[in-house]
Amino acid sequence: MEIIDSIIKVGEVIAVRGRSVEVRVDTTKNASHLLFRGELLKNVSVGSYVKIAKGFTYLVGKIEGEFIIENKSDNDRIYHNYQEKIKRVLQISLIGYLEEGLFKQGIKELPLIDNEVSLLTVSEFNLVHKFVQTGEETITIGNLAQEKTKSIELSVDRLFASHIGIFGNTGSGKSYTLAKLYHELINRFKENKKFQTNARFFAIDFNGEYINPDDTIDDDVLIEEKYKSVYRLSTGKSGSKKRYPVSLTVINDEHFWSLILHCTEKTQTPFVSRTLKNDFLESNIRSNSGFLNLVKQALETITTKITPNQEKGLVHSFLDELAKFGIINKVNGLSALIADYKRNLSFHSGNRNYYYGTTYSNTPAFVQEIIYRKVDALTPDITELSEIQVIRLKILFQFYYEIHNGFSNKEHIGPLMGRLDDRVAELEKVVKIKTSNDRVNLLTVVSLKDVNINMRKVLPLLICRQIYEEKKREANKEKYLNIIIDEAHNILSHSSDRESETWKDYRLETFEEIIKEGRKFGVFLTIASQRPSDISSTIISQLHNYFLHRLINNKDIEAVEKTISYLDKVSFDSLPILPRGSCILAGLAAQLPIIIEVGRVNDQYKPFNDTMILTKHWLD
Ligand SMILES: Nc1ncnc2c1ncn2[C@@H]1O[C@H](COP(=O)(O)OP(=O)(O)OP(=O)(O)O)[C@@H](O)[C@H]1O
Ligand SMILES: [Mg+2]
Repeated sequence: MEIIDSIIKVGEVIAVRGRSVEVRVDTTKNASHLLFRGELLKNVSVGSYVKIAKGFTYLVGKIEGEFIIENKSDNDRIYHNYQEKIKRVLQISLIGYLEEGLFKQGIKELPLIDNEVSLLTVSEFNLVHKFVQTGEETITIGNLAQEKTKSIELSVDRLFASHIGIFGNTGSGKSYTLAKLYHELINRFKENKKFQTNARFFAIDFNGEYINPDDTIDDDVLIEEKYKSVYRLSTGKSGSKKRYPVSLTVINDEHFWSLILHCTEKTQTPFVSRTLKNDFLESNIRSNSGFLNLVKQALETITTKITPNQEKGLVHSFLDELAKFGIINKVNGLSALIADYKRNLSFHSGNRNYYYGTTYSNTPAFVQEIIYRKVDALTPDITELSEIQVIRLKILFQFYYEIHNGFSNKEHIGPLMGRLDDRVAELEKVVKIKTSNDRVNLLTVVSLKDVNINMRKVLPLLICRQIYEEKKREANKEKYLNIIIDEAHNILSHSSDRESETWKDYRLETFEEIIKEGRKFGVFLTIASQRPSDISSTIISQLHNYFLHRLINNKDIEAVEKTISYLDKVSFDSLPILPRGSCILAGLAAQLPIIIEVGRVNDQYKPFNDTMILTKHWLD
């Protein structure tokens, strides 16, 4: 190590209190930089670093505060200069040491009183900010905020094989940072065949920031269009142009339906579960003759097992319901049957029976002539029904079967039936059954901007669950999956009362599992949010790398403080005053927390999140 010149010497240690060390500054060095052997050094100031020589060891400390004390013992002397009367003292927190040309984090020894303190040379300063080892693959994400010439390189392995959290108030630059990270990463490796086969990135985009709003031109947000699959989902009138492919297993999963149908835990969820497990339904619903059997059975049950409060028009409402979603066109004769029943079939409230002409429903002739014979005359072609429609029909048949046999209470299941049509319609607008043609590209972006609130809550969960489960089952150690969720409070917020318990449980299970177990299966999560205090602390505390943008709310700062215990005071205090695009980087990828300025993303790849410039639209 080079001999310390008087130029870079700062002062001596005057107090050691654990990690915290006080240093008396020799001369007042007020310039922000000093010239030393042709190199520009940053002078002492809060937030910068110094080294303390103890024998042959160099300890490195960060300046956390600076103050002056009066030289009381010299009170009666006559002063020539004000500077003699005061001592300038730096408060330093030890962060590591220099050894064999490397900076190491941690405290090996403590300094002694009178140990010399000096500035870091440029090469030492670089060592402290060198977060990558030789030979490691890196990406550059920006530069040090304090020392703009120092660019910050991070290890790809340590950053991306980790769960990442990006937090900050609105407009502080989270989405931009997220875009920078993933653009740099994907851009760096995109041409590699192995990367193309082994890596998958999955972005849930609540606000449509990661897609080009104009879908007629190339969409290069984050990365060029050819590396992406983009789903612009919409529950609007005409639905999505390209629907998201879900697997058959998911569509037949009872949790999926209880989420979609917003089921109550005690009665509706078990009802859905029974429906999907019902073998009789399954064996009949896929064939035309089976379908007729189910219709016959339902009509027979409704007309012969009368419930105490049975509505008069129940047969009609059942058939109307059955006919929906295009079934009316797939079953030849159905509309005629509906018209026939409407004209001729009535309910006798006195003796609580249906009658058709003179045939009453409590006679065998009614079932044979009025139901079986008429239903058998229908010619359905329902073999092309979508899986979602199949399940809708199952729910419908199960409902009438259970209510009329007294297995379920109409008050309990009725509300679910009320939601069924809307939810099925919405679902059909956004998802379809996955086929072998649905190739998954390097990056998948699912935009939920035009999706209604119900689907916004449910879809991301289902999609994340599906891709996580698939990855888990695949059990291929070479494959990597990164799930990126911007505006994560939309689904991870724990304070919201709007959602059902089923939904909350499912969410907790999904995301806490990914956070806790994902690493083993090569699944990592990146979440960005404005309200870290809103997100379950189990999730926040298990993230490995944090990008902390400006946070103003005390609760949010506390949430971060509680979970990221190694963040130092200077970094903390700077949280509310960080400018846009600057953030504290802390975690595995950086050996000490630093404030960085996130570098520019080329306009072509930038997310669509510009803050509106009012006067541009107001001045003529
Ligand atoms: N490092 C940066 N360099 C240049 N511009 C930036 C940088 N970071 C953010 N910006 C700009 O600042 C604006 C707001 O950034 P951004 O949308 O990323 O904020 P945000 O934290 O995601 O906000 P919100 O919570 O509302 O989504 C954008 O116009 C973006 O282009
Ligand atoms: Mg954003």
